[in-house]
Amino acid sequence: MLVGPETWDDAGVYRLSPRLALVQTVDFLTPVVNDPQDYGRIAAANALSDVYAMGGTPISALSIVCFPEGGDLEILRLMLRGGAETLRRAGVALLGGHSVRDREIKFGFAVTGEVHPKRVITNAGAKRGDLLVLTKPLGIGILATALKRRLLPKATLAAATRQMTTLNAAAAKAMQAERATAATDISGFGLLGHALNIARASKKTIRIWSRSVPLLPGVLEFAASGVTPAGLHANAAYLASETRYDDAVPQPLRAALADPQTSGGLLIAVPPSRVKPLLARLTRARIRASVVGEVLARGAAPIEVAA
Ligand code: CO
Ligand code: CO
Ligand code: CO
Repeated sequence: MLVGPETWDDAGVYRLSPRLALVQTVDFLTPVVNDPQDYGRIAAANALSDVYAMGGTPISALSIVCFPEGGDLEILRLMLRGGAETLRRAGVALLGGHSVRDREIKFGFAVTGEVHPKRVITNAGAKRGDLLVLTKPLGIGILATALKRRLLPKATLAAATRQMTTLNAAAAKAMQAERATAATDISGFGLLGHALNIARASKKTIRIWSRSVPLLPGVLEFAASGVTPAGLHANAAYLASETRYDDAVPQPLRAALADPQTSGGLLIAVPPSRVKPLLARLTRARIRASVVGEVLARGAAPIEVAA
């Protein structure tokens, strides 16, 4: 076992031979959008993301479906179709799956990928002086809450859906090429929660430059008017003892930094000399990436949020 449960990593890694390791993960979620086919696409992109976050290439997947007895089977068909379509786009074979009856719909995948045992990118490798690159803007949890309350403009929903169905494949390829030292994908614990996993596993302090963090449209406005998911408050409470905020960081921005993401981007640690080439690769892949922070020697708190 190369990567197991104890480093708070995105997926497990098991070495089969000196040149081949398996990357394995499972992820499933309740609907985040109303369109069943988009939901299926998002569930697949989200599950694949944990393999990409380890620097791996996904190969095969098994679906996991929870669906209500007597539910509309057309919805189920569209969910499965969306998922299969995204797997195909990623070059991943759907081998089978399992379904159970459940009151609430849930959908996702167990994914198997491969990686060279020496090219595994975990949470534990961040070095002092590394810079942090984020490959998707934040705010999905806040916007999903706005959607549930029927406050979300159509164009913003379209942008959020596009972002969630975007694979982290190209970002993973770029970070492998530029020898990233550590990486994770941003999901339920929000940017700060996942940065904390890197800080702990790497025994460093991570400083986030709050004003450099890209946000989806409307996120700060919704956060300022209290349109926030329960998970955000759980994250913020958990982070409180581990985080030092500059007094000048406004509350809505703090909320966005703790906002749980679905199918979020990669947070990549790279030496400063690799940042420019990494950003160039990401731009060529049409990924809107930003430098959002830095890795410091372990200080008083594992996370610092600068204004
Ligand atoms: Co993850
Ligand atoms: Co996951
Ligand atoms: Co079965």
